Amino acid sequence: MRILVLGGDGYLGWPTALHLSARSHDVGIVDSLVRRSYDLEMGTESLVPIRSIHRRVRTWELVSGNRIETYVGDLTDAEFVYATVDAFRPEAIVHFAEQRSAPYSMIDRSHAVYTQTNNVVGTLNLLYAIADIDRSIHLVKLGTMGEYGTPNIDIEEGFIEITHNGRTDVLPYPKQPGSFYHLSKVHDSHNIQFACRAWNLRSTDLNQGIVYGQETPESARHPDLATRFDYDAVFGTVLNRFAVQAVAGHDLTVYGTGGQTRGMLDIRDTLACIELACENPAGEGEYRVFNQFTESFSVAQLAEMVSDAMPGQVTVRQIENPRHEQDEHYYRAAHTKLLGLGLVPHLLDGGTISSLLATAARHRDRVDPRAILPSVQWASTRSTLPTAVHPRGRHAARPGHVEHIGQLPHAERNQRAARGGIATGPNGATREERSGAVENAERP
Ligand SMILES: NC(=O)c1ccc[n+]([C@@H]2O[C@H](COP(=O)([O-])OP(=O)(O)OC[C@H]3O[C@@H](n4cnc5c(N)ncnc54)[C@H](O)[C@@H]3O)[C@@H](O)[C@H]2O)c1
Repeated sequence: MRILVLGGDGYLGWPTALHLSARSHDVGIVDSLVRRSYDLEMGTESLVPIRSIHRRVRTWELVSGNRIETYVGDLTDAEFVYATVDAFRPEAIVHFAEQRSAPYSMIDRSHAVYTQTNNVVGTLNLLYAIADIDRSIHLVKLGTMGEYGTPNIDIEEGFIEITHNGRTDVLPYPKQPGSFYHLSKVHDSHNIQFACRAWNLRSTDLNQGIVYGQETPESARHPDLATRFDYDAVFGTVLNRFAVQAVAGHDLTVYGTGGQTRGMLDIRDTLACIELACENPAGEGEYRVFNQFTESFSVAQLAEMVSDAMPGQVTVRQIENPRHEQDEHYYRAAHTKLLGLGLVPHLLDGGTISSLLATAARHRDRVDPRAILPSVQWASTRSTLPTAVHPRGRHAARPGHVEHIGQLPHAERNQRAARGGIATGPNGATREERSGAVENAERP
């Protein structure tokens, strides 16, 4: 199957591309590399060193014999999206390519606007490209369990049957998201569902839980193939962050009482779920929703599991919750559809936690303690990050400014991208390697 992975340079997109390629699918990846510029903006970097997109692809070809087509460009650029879909002619598109941090979206107005513009406009461009180029393409879109919030009733998979004043209908499950990032996913879901109705597109919206883990069978084949491992308060997901805090001798910082319960899954299960969704496509005009997680844990339970794995060496500390969310709440969410397609989950056990701790320990000297404590406050409209460069000194690496670049005519935008060292267009990008951006990205 020909599968185009959008966001193929990211934490999940890269190992997904490898996984699909290893299973003999023809894989292409698309990425604007903006995630790497969030690192520059925030003054943080992946705990595990990552290579440039081009070196990753070259190494994969060497170790597997399989080629991954690479397209560097931005989904908010409609011309680029049309040209890429037209050139690759995928049967399925897996769409990971969004700004995915809730705290990042809550830093201030410009980061909220950037997040929603990037995510909603990118997805809308993609929907139009699919409708205009080939309506049989199956769109597999990454949403999040956070779209639902934490209602005091069971969460269903996308839809709920409601009887009101004696009449019954099956309707989209009510959404109560907890950040401007999560809201961008809700807006995407509505746009995708409408496009399936209006243009007969086929789509699977994967409401994914929080992912943990870093290594996959394919990424373990060579150090150049490693995916990112974020532990900072803005981009680090909770279990990865606790593992780093534990090996760095830092208290495990639990927000509030730690009763916040969330669906979670192992990174290897993300790859398996994507493959199952691609191989079992939605029907013509069908918009379906799968809840993509395997188990639920409270934040306090996760902290306890990590501290149990390092007896006597770790302290769990409650700190003020920077987010606007319930610390204690009811949580029960359905997740049967992917299991029905054959998903065999890797459940969270001591072995997985030990391997996370071992990965964190190998790179302990790269931990920046200033990046760990939360600095984005939901109640404030402006937060200052201890690691971030002052805005006036970081124009080039400030994605908040993409909202302006996104409005420029195409030619000028490309010139600017080229000046910034990022080549756009199918298989371009050698300019990036000549510019020093690669050197920075590969700095251990
Ligand atoms: N990581 C998790 O725990 C988690 C949980 C639930 C849902 N998700 C969703 O899965 C997807 C991938 O998450 P991730 O953790 O791999 O994030 P990531 O930030 O590591 O990867 C996203 C990639 O998309 C690229 N990108 C962003 N905007 C783009 C644009 N406009 N054009 C082209 N490329 C663009 C980035 O450069 C990055 O490489 C996201 O949509 C996220 O919301 C992730």
